[in-house]
Amino acid sequence: MQTVIYTFPGYHQQGSDIALQLGLSTDEITIHHFPDKESLVTLPGKKNNHVILFLSLDYPNNKLIELYLTCKTLRKQGTQRISLIAPYLSYMRQDKSFHPGEVVSQQVIGQYLSDLVDDIITVDPHLHRVKSLDQVFPGTNAIALTATTLLGEFVKALNKTVHLIGPDEESLQWVKNVAHISHSPYSVAKKERLGDTHVEVQLPDIDYKDQHIILIDDVISSGHTLAQAAIRLYSEGVKQVDAIATHALFSRDALSLLNSAKIKNVWTSNSITHATNQISLNKLLTQHIKTLL
Ligand code: R5P
Repeated sequence: MQTVIYTFPGYHQQGSDIALQLGLSTDEITIHHFPDKESLVTLPGKKNNHVILFLSLDYPNNKLIELYLTCKTLRKQGTQRISLIAPYLSYMRQDKSFHPGEVVSQQVIGQYLSDLVDDIITVDPHLHRVKSLDQVFPGTNAIALTATTLLGEFVKALNKTVHLIGPDEESLQWVKNVAHISHSPYSVAKKERLGDTHVEVQLPDIDYKDQHIILIDDVISSGHTLAQAAIRLYSEGVKQVDAIATHALFSRDALSLLNSAKIKNVWTSNSITHATNQISLNKLLTQHIKTLL
């Protein structure tokens, strides 16, 4: 079966690096946005049996339509297998109706993507009440990788005595593994979300005096979760707070919020391209894309 990697705008460098490792060819999908915000998608001319699509689904609404237009056209052209490599998957956090009438986006978007592609590879999807990606993507070969081993190796390479803190209960799954790999102690805080940009963080009861804390989370979005945690930590007497996250969403003024909360270093993986990217997922993704060939 002839396989090719098609990259969406912004992902050509990363997709090409991975294609090179796998001995695959790569081509670019181009997208034009009309003044009324419709998308014009242009696919590479050649027909292929197996197409691997590479794009993270941050700021997803346009991308989901562009993916739909792409997949429907590829199928029409005779592509037999479509694999989606989306290091960041959106819409995973709304896994239940928190208020009457709210749509369970995780289920709806899960079904939408399952209808389009045969395989999905992603990294640290935000699974909380729903434990497995198979439940989100029925009938699709869905593979959830974790960046936490790489995050742990990154912490270890810092060669510092640190205490890791996950800012909320969901973060336990990530901070635990980072702590295991880096041989660091860890704790998990409690968070109450009162609005998009309003969270309250309650720290675990430990001695913080002069500690060097690294906050570990899957996503930095508005930045309020980590900023609140850092403000609380400094008020308890810690000497330094850094932060590591897998997905650098950084909406609005998130980075300056983290700076004003005196988080000294912010490190992220390259699941979403951002100035804070320090941890490459390319090798991890390459190893697992190989299993699709
Ligand atoms: C939610 O539970 C996630 O793990 C993150 O803590 C959250 O998405 C971060 O969002 P924000 O940066 O907007 O506080």
